[in-house]
Amino acid sequence: MYEKEVTEVEQLIQKQNQWRDNCINLIASENVLSQRARSQAGSDFAHRYAEGHPGERYYRGTSFIDDIENQLKTNLKILFECDHSEVRPISGTNANEAFFSRFVNPGAVVMVNSTPAGGHISHHREGSLGKFTKNVIDIPLTADGYHMDVAKTTYLIEKARPKLIVLGKSLFLFPEPIAEIAEVCQRYNTKIMYDAAHVLGLIAGKRFQRPLLEGAYLMTASTHKTYFGSQRGIILSNMEEDQWRRIDRGAFPGSSSNHHLDTLAQMAVCTYEFMEFGEQYAADTIKNAKALATELDRHGFDVQGKEFGFTETHQVAVNVRDFRSGEKVSKTLEINDIILNMNMLPHEPLKNHDRPDGIRIGVQEMTRVGMGEQEMGRIAELIKECIVDKKTVIEEVNRFRSKYQEVRYSYDKIKQEKSQPAKSEELKN
Ligand SMILES: Cc1ncc(COP(=O)(O)O)c(C=O)c1O
Repeated sequence: MYEKEVTEVEQLIQKQNQWRDNCINLIASENVLSQRARSQAGSDFAHRYAEGHPGERYYRGTSFIDDIENQLKTNLKILFECDHSEVRPISGTNANEAFFSRFVNPGAVVMVNSTPAGGHISHHREGSLGKFTKNVIDIPLTADGYHMDVAKTTYLIEKARPKLIVLGKSLFLFPEPIAEIAEVCQRYNTKIMYDAAHVLGLIAGKRFQRPLLEGAYLMTASTHKTYFGSQRGIILSNMEEDQWRRIDRGAFPGSSSNHHLDTLAQMAVCTYEFMEFGEQYAADTIKNAKALATELDRHGFDVQGKEFGFTETHQVAVNVRDFRSGEKVSKTLEINDIILNMNMLPHEPLKNHDRPDGIRIGVQEMTRVGMGEQEMGRIAELIKECIVDKKTVIEEVNRFRSKYQEVRYSYDKIKQEKSQPAKSEELKN
């Protein structure tokens, strides 16, 4: 009865695949899977359950996922140099909630980055954290808006004695001063949670700060922004065993049951890719972000953080108020197949959230398909032609993007070479 509708859904999926393969994709929270990782989707694991831990499941039929999950947990501990890894959360928000649910008691004081300062909604009163406490205080910022004001934060910690301070953001240009506040936090038994959703790959690639080594109590993340993973969440820590067991129960049974075994298997593949190619990828990504920021600045855009070198991550933030708003600019770019998102900037009041001054750009996906600094220069030119000169650039965008269709920093090429017989073998047959 609904066969026609099914065909329509299939067509929409095809359209999406073709469209985004031809766009310049600059959403800072997205990335692409390698073909090798992508081809693992839809395996038998997509139909199964495996509640509990490997070797101690509540279900039978789990021996192979046990092996995969154990490999993944071990590899993450090696990559992030930590004692504990929790891989069952199915998203970054789910990972945050798993922790909050076991650590934040009603009324506890928690300090966070505000939304305009880049804090994620799951850290806020209206989001996941708000289910456990309403006592949420904003971390004070320096005048530029992109750094914590350490002196004022120290003062607030002394006065308010928060149980937790949540670092890490969605608009994330520069490292957080973890080591600088670790001592005062220790004095008042304030634990530092670091949300590495955006910068996980930069940390794993050893090109960004190392939160767990600098004093963070635990680190949560989603696995699919600067990391190569399928869309999931993780929690990592060096905390004492008995404390970890509590957090672990926050993941299961606290906030998940089935933990989506096919994307877990993909994540195991992606983690091997990261272990082999991640350091180069992280270095190239940051280099590209700096190059794009520099070129946009040269074209006259108000690129944020200029006095600090624009960025030390995969992100670039631009104030586009001169062109009406981030909403208008992002829509104009989308019509031209340049995909990025509008974003509030630190100086803005919350009421601006649907027409903010800013756009946020991430270069991690275009880096993964092989673009370098020169290509960043071309992207900056296309943005300028589209927004400043008001030209239609869609055809040039599609032509330019068509040359970058392979996912690099992966085993894809090796797989293709293996599946194509060598010339001499072809002749023999
Ligand atoms: C800082 C931060 N934390 C958590 C999340 C949530 O991650 P997920 O979308 O995997 O739930 C995001 C998402 O963009 C984020 O930016």
